[in-house]
Amino acid sequence: MKSRLLPLLFLFNFLVTADIHAQTISLNGAWKVIIDPSGIGDWRKVWLEDKPQKKTDFFEYSFNGAPELKVPGDFNSQICELTYFEGTVWYNRQFNYTIRNGKRLFLHFAAVNYMAEVFLNGSLIGSHEGGFTPFQFEITGKVKEGTNAIVVKVNNIRHKDGLPGDGYDWLNYGGITRDVDLIETAGTYIEDYSIQLKKGSLNTVAGYVQLNGMQPSQNVKIKIPELDLLYKTRTDSKGMATLEFSSAFKLWSPELPKLYKVVIESETDTAVDSIGFRSIEVKGNKILLNGRPVFLKAVNIHEENPYKGARAWSKEDAVLLLNAAKELGCNLIRLAHYPHNENMVKEAERMGLMVWSELPVYQHIQFADSSVPAKMEKMLEEMVHRDKNRCGVVIWSLSNETYPGTPNRNKALIELTQKCRALDATRLITHVTNTQRYENNTFDIWDPLYKYADLISLNEYIGWYIPWQGKPADTKWKFVCPDKPVFISEFGGEALYGSHGSGDEAAFWTEEYQANIYTAQLQMFSTIPNLCGVCPWLLFDYRSPGRMHPVYQKGYNRKGLLSDKGDKKKAWYIMNAYYSQKHN
Ligand code: GCU
Repeated sequence: MKSRLLPLLFLFNFLVTADIHAQTISLNGAWKVIIDPSGIGDWRKVWLEDKPQKKTDFFEYSFNGAPELKVPGDFNSQICELTYFEGTVWYNRQFNYTIRNGKRLFLHFAAVNYMAEVFLNGSLIGSHEGGFTPFQFEITGKVKEGTNAIVVKVNNIRHKDGLPGDGYDWLNYGGITRDVDLIETAGTYIEDYSIQLKKGSLNTVAGYVQLNGMQPSQNVKIKIPELDLLYKTRTDSKGMATLEFSSAFKLWSPELPKLYKVVIESETDTAVDSIGFRSIEVKGNKILLNGRPVFLKAVNIHEENPYKGARAWSKEDAVLLLNAAKELGCNLIRLAHYPHNENMVKEAERMGLMVWSELPVYQHIQFADSSVPAKMEKMLEEMVHRDKNRCGVVIWSLSNETYPGTPNRNKALIELTQKCRALDATRLITHVTNTQRYENNTFDIWDPLYKYADLISLNEYIGWYIPWQGKPADTKWKFVCPDKPVFISEFGGEALYGSHGSGDEAAFWTEEYQANIYTAQLQMFSTIPNLCGVCPWLLFDYRSPGRMHPVYQKGYNRKGLLSDKGDKKKAWYIMNAYYSQKHN
């Protein structure tokens, strides 16, 4: 093995997603851990799990007798001393395996924050950077009959050249935060497929199936039993087959979140998925869902279970967050500011909520660092690859509040936009900015990125960080792209639930002050040309160490419409009323 960090190639052996292939062995549960605040574990070669061989031997670490942490789960909320820990934690668990001829085996991680180095039986099998997208390693031929040991070095230290960089407004939950699975496949398996409506079509699917293995050329069938649909094709010598077929699909929409059982069958493997079909596009200054204008009634959500004060990962966590979004009256959720877990995306799709998925290209990003564009592109590929068959996902957001003055920012993000369009031309693409000028009660939206985006997505905190400059209802607007749809991706202000008093003094975090911001914002919305949707920041109060007011914040960003206990603040009722009277 040349270096300890294996080349990217291994990471791009396209991922088999855990719940498609039957032979999945979950490795979730209790894992032994060694907390390594000084980072000495590398020098001690913890992954070798050395054991004394002779009487004078001793090793100053061991997983025997070590504490345990739950996987999936962040480590910060599980052990008090780790509440704000940013450093290395070594995870260990064993599994038994019986090698079966002709079968292949993959070790799949749905996400590990931030850096992961993975060892199998004392040898490094791979590494991954990025806390919010899946990765896997093939361990066929490396796994042994009987007991095998996995060690994962997890490090959530911030990196200036990271994604995100070293400054962000959420708690840096570290750990093995999502599912871990062993996936056993046939020698030649279905590595990848894309089955979605062709851009602009309401009944024709365009896609592909990709096989991986020694028998690349095989007959493939696509079956949708409910539609009595059977489509046959054959993969080429590289295992690839493109697909095109039509049917009278019941289109997926928030009102009718229709999903079909889809079976992808090759001669050596079968994958089953639950897929919906819808078209999403921009026509002039409107967003059209299935050919009809739609107003995006959205809310921002962080991937945190408010009642546990922990990173959300499970179906139950997802349903809790999504039910609250539905109750507010939403038809879209912005998953801020990084790809959330698959449960979140799949439950949203099932519940009829459109999904905005975003890359953690957040505020201070070192675009001029030569490694950063490649990291962005890889994270983009991982995000799109995982969710491309999720019809609920309608918007890819590639950045949030980055600064035009940062060297190489425009070039890097314009190229990233083009790469995203090449990867997936069927969804909308945007960048979120807060670079607007606001003078004399007039907004001037000038960010050059908007020439390359499908919609303008704007964060503005007028009434909280920035005082009003006139009557909200008299607000004027100037846009670099006056014909594009405009989405207010963040607005709002803070309040501590139960703090009441004057509505015109910010320093007491009163519900009245927050409610006044919402009332004024809704008045301003009526002045925005091409408004296609709004998205309050945000659904629930959430943990952010930088929010340090000892009475009103206590390490929480209090801009939620709901407290971290789920209490409805006054502003919740204002937003709910607005959404219930807002039709497409
Ligand atoms: C920003 C940012 C959020 C942040 C919010 C705030 O716009 O995108 O991540 O939490 O403002 O200041 O509360």
